[in-house]
Amino acid sequence: MKVAICPGSFDPVTLGHLDIIERTSYLFDKVIVAVLCNMEKHPNFTVEERMEFLRETTSHLPNVEISSFDGLLVDFAKEKGATAVVKGLRAVSDFEYEFQMSLINKKLCPDIETVYLNTSQEYMYLSSSVIKQIASLGGDISNFVPEAIHTKIVDRLTNM
Ligand code: PNS
Repeated sequence: MKVAICPGSFDPVTLGHLDIIERTSYLFDKVIVAVLCNMEKHPNFTVEERMEFLRETTSHLPNVEISSFDGLLVDFAKEKGATAVVKGLRAVSDFEYEFQMSLINKKLCPDIETVYLNTSQEYMYLSSSVIKQIASLGGDISNFVPEAIHTKIVDRLTNM
């Protein structure tokens, strides 16, 4: 069974993330979406909230599992029996950081490959931080986040 990990902060999950998760689910037998626990990034949503948003919005994908991790991504991947880490690339600006991470991860664990999917054109400009800024300033984010969790996200970000 080919298992892939889709890691990230998902603070919160966007339509861009879901596009990558969905396309990964067509390529691998099983996909584990791994939410980073690291509090250094000062997330707006708790790990449980982020996982619940992901569960709600991926419930139509039977081979997708939601999990969380702390520590090294490659250790988590090994523990789960994954052979690939799948990430979305939006633009050239993502490349340098992603390239560095993939080389480090390869050095740490040569058995795990990093696979990049280019983001679909309609989501190239999306990021969780831009969405949070728009929502906190009263803007409309309905085109950027899944409908099922839209109200929860807006309620949180407008009541900070
Ligand atoms: O959504 P993000 O914040 O871009 O996700 C980044 C993530 C979670 C993929 C990255 O921070 C990560 O892999 N963190 C785990 C720590 C790790 O393994 N570091 C070594 C590779 S640089």
